[in-house]
Amino acid sequence: MVKPKPVLLLAISLCCLSALPRHTATTDGNGKPLVTAITKDAATSLYTAPLKDSRPLVLDLSGPLIWSTCDASHPTLECHHHECARAHSYHPHNGYGVADEEDRFRCKCTAHPYNPFAGKAASGDLTRAMLSANATDGKNPLYPVSFTAVASCAPDSLLAKLPAGAVGVAGLARTKLALAAQVARTQKVANKFALCLPSGGQGVAIFGGGPLFLLPPGRPDVTERLAGETPLRRNPEFPGYYISAKGLAVNQEQVPLSSYGPLVVGLCSRIPYTVLRSDVYRPFVQAFDKATAERKRVTPPVAPFELCYDSRELGSTRLGYAVPQVDLMLEGGSNWTVFGGNSMVQVNDNTACFGFVRMKESEKRRYFGAPAVVIGGFQMENNLLVFDEEKAQLGFSGLLFGRQTTCSNFNFTLAA
Ligand SMILES: *[C@@H]1O[C@H](CO)[C@@H](O)[C@H](O)[C@H]1NC(C)=O
Ligand SMILES: *[C@@H]1O[C@H](CO)[C@@H](O)[C@H](O)[C@H]1NC(C)=O
Ligand SMILES: *[C@@H]1O[C@H](CO)[C@@H](O)[C@H](O)[C@H]1NC(C)=O
Repeated sequence: MVKPKPVLLLAISLCCLSALPRHTATTDGNGKPLVTAITKDAATSLYTAPLKDSRPLVLDLSGPLIWSTCDASHPTLECHHHECARAHSYHPHNGYGVADEEDRFRCKCTAHPYNPFAGKAASGDLTRAMLSANATDGKNPLYPVSFTAVASCAPDSLLAKLPAGAVGVAGLARTKLALAAQVARTQKVANKFALCLPSGGQGVAIFGGGPLFLLPPGRPDVTERLAGETPLRRNPEFPGYYISAKGLAVNQEQVPLSSYGPLVVGLCSRIPYTVLRSDVYRPFVQAFDKATAERKRVTPPVAPFELCYDSRELGSTRLGYAVPQVDLMLEGGSNWTVFGGNSMVQVNDNTACFGFVRMKESEKRRYFGAPAVVIGGFQMENNLLVFDEEKAQLGFSGLLFGRQTTCSNFNFTLAA
């Protein structure tokens, strides 16, 4: 092959630079946290954020990477690139492995993005993608910010079972290639994020952590007024979010469990309802059954739930249906308290069911390390969660209804 002359190379690169479309230029957030809206997809119960050219990516607390479909003319990172090594650190048997690949001309980095909803893995180039959100002062979006993130390309077929219109997944797990870590590096903000999942309307996430103000106006910063905090624990098998609990209580009475020692609790936005390992599920559901013995039941119950009630007779409080509270007694001494708003699922006009599900034997592997409890989307909704990687802590607000607000109360009007 004839070596091109340096002058020619320079000309080519100049021409390519000037041909770059204007909108791909990175705009700086000036060290401000970034805010994005979150929508719950009715068909899949997954949560998405419009991060890629205003098109949604699924937010996945257990996802180690960002992946999306790519244009044919995308750049590909070389296999020697340190980001390739980072992508490499996830084990292939979980579908997250990245292998180096030598092609005839150069070595390029191939990633193996995984779609947990379809249970499918694929291969794609490790590339740089342009993502966008708004800088924020915690009260409003201030101005749009675009930034490049290392992401994996994926074939269109990997979009199966994602919400309609979604173009990929934004992994939020505890890895260097997850979205929060990449926002922290590119925007020079703290490596933490605040997640407020909506039950309807638009929820909110703030990368960089906070502050976060929810309407009505004049309320204090929610991230400064947390109900509790607990250490984040590592699972050697998987870089997701785990915390440790001393036990469970129903109606402020501890549930007797056959297993001793702390309970491993995972957090997972891929599943609609909290699942519990059978040995924990059984006594837990029995305790709730006993505590609600007087309430009018609906039989047979509506699957996948076991305890369903005539919701017209449950009674309401500002925290949801008036049912016994559930306490997850966490390491560090605080309780994650679940009130009616997060425990009772309205399955039809007159029926509400206790929204906890038994972990199937066949599903255990999906959650890694067989945690006792995996908190699902419904139980996280309308609670502000602060995932603080720097302090290795999870902070939570408790059900925001108690403060007369919800996760759908961020003021998304651009500040004047
Ligand atoms: C920034 O905020 C405005 C106002 O809410 C919104 O219309 C726009 O889509 C946001 N931009 C991004 C990139 O999220
Ligand atoms: C946590 O919950 C348990 C069981 O309901 C209760 O006994 C304990 O007092 C609670 N602790 C705090 C700090 O609220
Ligand atoms: C939302 O923010 C805009 C811009 O700052 C402001 O004009 C408006 O009053 C706010 N809305 C509410 C309900 O506070």
